[in-house]
Amino acid sequence: MPKPEVTGLFPTPFMRVPSALDLNLVAGLVAHFSTVADLANNSSPNLSHTAMLRPSDSPLLVDAAALITPQLTEFGALLFGERLGWSLKEMWVNLLDTGGRQAMHNHANSFISGVVYLTPTHPDSRTVFMKSPGGLDFAFKNDHASVVSGPYNTDQWISPQPQPGDLVLFPSYLMHAVPPNPGQRRITLAFNAIPARLDSWGYRIAFSG
Ligand SMILES: [Fe+2]
Repeated sequence: MPKPEVTGLFPTPFMRVPSALDLNLVAGLVAHFSTVADLANNSSPNLSHTAMLRPSDSPLLVDAAALITPQLTEFGALLFGERLGWSLKEMWVNLLDTGGRQAMHNHANSFISGVVYLTPTHPDSRTVFMKSPGGLDFAFKNDHASVVSGPYNTDQWISPQPQPGDLVLFPSYLMHAVPPNPGQRRITLAFNAIPARLDSWGYRIAFSG
């Protein structure tokens, strides 16, 4: 049989940057923000987070933003075909204690979202990404022990084991969740980012944070 050629049509980019933040900065962020994350999250009693932060709220966030922003430009070039000016619209720190979880969600009013892992992550509570759930059509599935999962039949993907300082970027529309954490407190810095403007043959839209 001639060798067939398969093309992955319209793939979704997911970018991982190992050691994007150095461990000194990571330690500073953990020390500073583990005391101020006092807002409860309604998806889990063991999940809390800070209020929305801006880089100007702390010199540590200025340093983090300086390291994250060039990666936004590269990721944004995949999404929009151009190296645009990008800014971090909001940042926040999540504290996921033992047993805590984050329900499936995506991020509104944003184009690139991302996470910096600040503490070791238990393998069971790696961030999981899902295809957007349907709901208005009947569903057909071939789902049993003999099925081999691949990029064309799976509906979720468990992201690689992160280390403290690692950064991941993904389109803000992508659904994601964190399964229950059986390990120690898991701390992450999350953020949303917007481009300065988009231009569709002269029809322009500008964004501000
Ligand atoms: Fe999220």
